[in-house]
Amino acid sequence: MRLEKYIATSGIASRRAVKRAIREGRVTVNGTDTFIPGHPIDAEKDFIEFEGKRVEPLTERIYLMLNKPAGYLTTRRDERGRPTVMDLLTDLPKSIYPVGRLDLETEGLLLFTNDGNFANHLMHPSHEIDKTYLAWVEGVPSQRALERFRNGIAISSGKTAPAKIKQLNVKTANSKKYKNGAVAKFRVIIHEGKKRQVRLMFKAIGHRVIRLKRIRIGTLGLGNLPQGQYRFLTPTEIAKLLA
Ligand code: URA
Repeated sequence: MRLEKYIATSGIASRRAVKRAIREGRVTVNGTDTFIPGHPIDAEKDFIEFEGKRVEPLTERIYLMLNKPAGYLTTRRDERGRPTVMDLLTDLPKSIYPVGRLDLETEGLLLFTNDGNFANHLMHPSHEIDKTYLAWVEGVPSQRALERFRNGIAISSGKTAPAKIKQLNVKTANSKKYKNGAVAKFRVIIHEGKKRQVRLMFKAIGHRVIRLKRIRIGTLGLGNLPQGQYRFLTPTEIAKLLA
């Protein structure tokens, strides 16, 4: 494989930026400066460094999605021994970790990797990658409240960026449990990752979220992956997320 292709597929930088870095002597192969972008390398054996940081061998990189159920913490280990998302990932190397987080009670699409460049790319605020959620809320927000939601709302961690929100349906709940006896379902798209952002945005317009599920990150949808299950991403899915 060509050196520049190998590095670019790791997501560390664009193909053009990788070529420039190689020409400028910012890349080493097995400790030796290598100035030729097309330099042939063995993707499994060679030790490649990009600006002093190791580029993980392709064969050892792991990318997967989990359909997280409610009730699992997004952390690698909990000191109090509560269930964590790692409990759902059996037979996988210990090197993987979650990309971002979902609250304890939030369900849906959570990515895992051991590729730091991939994780950084997805989490970097400047990339503004859309995350889509389904939210079930108590009561039916007014159009005016939804406009506030769209324009950005002040929550404890600051003002949120404009968000997209669409009401999908309203169900009458036949119990006194819910305000107004109704549960409204929304599709919400945000690109920031403030703590408990969707819940706090609804709270700010006076509605409590009773269920929250992430169904999409950028180009990647959760599809019909069963709850509690995981699957590996395809090379095309990985490449699209990094595009
Ligand atoms: N917004 C939330 O409120 N919770 C999540 O887990 C993710 C986004």
